[in-house]
Amino acid sequence: MRALIVFGSRYGSSAEIAEEIGKIMGNEGVEVDLVDLRKNKIENIHHYDLVIVGSGIKMAKWTKEPLKFLKKNKSALKDKKVALFVSCGAPLGGKEKIDEAWELYLKKIASENLSGEPVSMGLFGGVFDPDANHGLMYKMAMKMAKKGYEKQGVDTSKRYDYRNWGEIREWASKLAEIAKE
Ligand SMILES: Cc1cc2nc3c(=O)[nH]c(=O)nc-3n(C[C@H](O)[C@H](O)[C@H](O)COP(=O)(O)O)c2cc1C
Repeated sequence: MRALIVFGSRYGSSAEIAEEIGKIMGNEGVEVDLVDLRKNKIENIHHYDLVIVGSGIKMAKWTKEPLKFLKKNKSALKDKKVALFVSCGAPLGGKEKIDEAWELYLKKIASENLSGEPVSMGLFGGVFDPDANHGLMYKMAMKMAKKGYEKQGVDTSKRYDYRNWGEIREWASKLAEIAKE
């Protein structure tokens, strides 16, 4: 069983999620290749049984590279198991935001870019970092997000990691089983 994990990450959150998924699957006997599409390309995906594609979300958008990957490999992916995941702010926003994120960041991406249904999709949190300096856009988004985070009881003076690692690991284990089927 071989699995490929490809991802696009702007601030590192989905990169760490992808690494953890790879580690869990590797421990469960799946041979995993991990490719950061913002740094490397992958030409041939024929020898993989399962392909996992993930991205961080900014202003409701995936990173470009994994979307390009999905488009370019649409016909090759037709005969494979495909899973999608995102890392986004929605898990802190309550049920309505989470439902909206499932529609916009996962189901819509799947229906627009895949020929069939994905075997699984994962919606995960990210990191709030008041000290990160990623430019003006980041600062503005953080300022806007701050109120929402505070409503959820988050102390926004500190770095806050709202990725649920238990949930991520559980998802990875489930994918390891799917890869072996
Ligand atoms: C500038 C900026 C814009 C963001 N826009 C959204 C958004 O529109 N929707 C959302 O759910 N999360 C949003 N987030 C939260 C990110 O999706 C979250 O931090 C994610 O973990 C980023 O993944 P990455 O580190 O892999 O890029 C935004 C974060 C930043 C910094």
